[in-house]
Amino acid sequence: MILDVQQIHGFYGKSHILQGVTLRVGEGETISLLGRNGAGKSTTLKSIAGVVTPQRGTVTFKGEPIHKLAPHKIASRGVCFVPEHRGIFRLLSVEENLRLGARKDSPWQLDDIYRIFPRLKERRTNGGAQLSGGEQQMLAIGRALLNHPRLLMLDEPVEGLAPVIVEEIVAQLKLIKQAGVAILLVEQNLEVCSQLADRHYIIEQGVIVYEGDNAAFIADESIKDRYLGVGVV
Ligand SMILES: Nc1ncnc2c1ncn2[C@@H]1O[C@H](COP(=O)(O)OP(=O)(O)OP(=O)(O)O)[C@@H](O)[C@H]1O
Ligand SMILES: [Mg+2]
Repeated sequence: MILDVQQIHGFYGKSHILQGVTLRVGEGETISLLGRNGAGKSTTLKSIAGVVTPQRGTVTFKGEPIHKLAPHKIASRGVCFVPEHRGIFRLLSVEENLRLGARKDSPWQLDDIYRIFPRLKERRTNGGAQLSGGEQQMLAIGRALLNHPRLLMLDEPVEGLAPVIVEEIVAQLKLIKQAGVAILLVEQNLEVCSQLADRHYIIEQGVIVYEGDNAAFIADESIKDRYLGVGVV
């Protein structure tokens, strides 16, 4: 296991959002975390990244507890979090955004990112604010790769993007997965989840209510009706 989350409880003020979330990600494994709006998906990723501090429970990364560490310490161990709004600096250029997270020891360097996402190369002097949604997502993923991720956590990476851009991003995520990076993916697009993930979790009101491998998940349509409200016709 690269990541072992055990019984974490997360709060915003007095609101008890995560009520004992337990999930695991194996080495090189891609996991999807699904659930309705407000179920606690983003809060789970934030709790792993240290943006929200779990009040109870443990998060173990590569055998060591990380749930009491500051976000930058967690990131420096290789937990890369691409938040929903992508965390792009609007006033910096594409290249400046990329260089911010770059590390010399990463298997991915700037030229690799430009090879993976040629659009970023074309727009390297453009400001972050001038990018389309798809380009922003590519930039956020590119920056995470430069930071040498051991675990890449993506919060709705293809939300609101055109199908052709979704395909492009999914194809690149498959290559990142093949390179051995473990991925924890929050995504509402079931097609994307079943293309990428080896295993799926469903969270409901801050509790994991389902866990299954990809074959079982695809085969069981009742799950999608029950927990996601997106019955396959
Ligand atoms: N900063 C915050 N302060 C207070 N409550 C919050 C905050 N962020 C989220 N919440 C609440 O916590 C609950 C879980 O939110 P979370 O963002 O984890 O849901 P989600 O599963 O990611 O939903 P979505 O699919 O809409 O992104 C929701 O009820 C939400 O209103
Ligand atoms: Mg969310």
